Amino acid sequence: MKILVTGGTGYIGSHTVVELLNENFEVVIADNLSNSNAEVVDKIEEITAKKVHFEKTDLSCPTATAELFQKHGGFDGVIHFAAFKAVGESVKEPLKYYHNNIFSLINLMNEMEKYKTQFLVFSSSCTVYGQPEELPVTENAAIQKALSPYGNTKQIAEEIITDYCLSNPNFNAILLRYFNPIGAHPSAKIGELPIGVPQNLIPYITQTAIGKREKLSVFGNDYSTPDGTCIRDYIHVVDLAQAHLAAMRRIAEQKNEENIETFNIGTGNGFSVLEIINSFEKVSNQKLPYEFAPRREGDIEKVWANTTLANEKLKWKAKLSLDEMLLSAWNWEKNINKNNE
Ligand code: WQD
Repeated sequence: MKILVTGGTGYIGSHTVVELLNENFEVVIADNLSNSNAEVVDKIEEITAKKVHFEKTDLSCPTATAELFQKHGGFDGVIHFAAFKAVGESVKEPLKYYHNNIFSLINLMNEMEKYKTQFLVFSSSCTVYGQPEELPVTENAAIQKALSPYGNTKQIAEEIITDYCLSNPNFNAILLRYFNPIGAHPSAKIGELPIGVPQNLIPYITQTAIGKREKLSVFGNDYSTPDGTCIRDYIHVVDLAQAHLAAMRRIAEQKNEENIETFNIGTGNGFSVLEIINSFEKVSNQKLPYEFAPRREGDIEKVWANTTLANEKLKWKAKLSLDEMLLSAWNWEKNINKNNE
């Protein structure tokens, strides 16, 4: 099967491409390199000893998207990661986010329709739930009003895909709502590469531990959680990548009961920021300098997934423990900085 992976040189996309190649899928990556670099392709080929086609493509341009599909004669399926995803930036530049994230999806689906592509697996996010009323959160929990244009583009994308599936019964889609992806491939050849100051917790922690940042600011310790800090469901990026293959298998084996299905992709366990720090200090065997700081605008207090649907219907379950996730993130940080020693 020939799979198009949009955003395939990005953090989650690259790890998913590795898992696809390991299972002998033919993969084409389309990426505009706005938030990643082309050398990730070489790393993917090093890890897998397999070739991958890379096409530098701006999917928000309909002509470029049409040329991509024409060049490859279409694809059996598409895994769509390509999107801008910085929450804070989306608040400052909403039109950039709506244009890129929504037009890319529409251009992609227009070409999928032309070439009768069998399925779409879409990268969605637990941000659609906002602060759930009930925890662990299930897939039929209420969708809250998005707190950012980024989160809203995920909600709008889900609606576009759902409406299209309702009017096209032969088109199959699976929406995967990610919780917090962290960690890196065990080879430490690919991982999270934030540009500039990391917004996310784990890269900020590893950059602090390696000495690139002075100390971690813990955004708020006055939440109504056991230790006062926010709780999230952190999932290893390789476990997350494997969930995409499980979703593809479900459609390819025609096991999907509806032509549009949604799954929470998390571990089902919530950990606080302080628990993350404690686990990191244990696996890295070093103290992490941090201080408590005011809450961050837009943060929700606590969220973790009910993963029963994914476990049962995708026959998928996250395997890696928090310690293993954080050790892989630390090994990756050490590896990308080893030339600076
Ligand atoms: C986790 C916790 C922070 C940094 C984001 C996106 C979401 C999804 C996953 C794409 C929070 C705290 C963080 C720091 C801290 N991405 N923190 N100090 O915000 O849960 O989700 O990534 O789909 O859309 O919003 O992840 O890693 O930024 O924060 O205390 O320097 O760590 O307050 O409680 P988040 P995060």
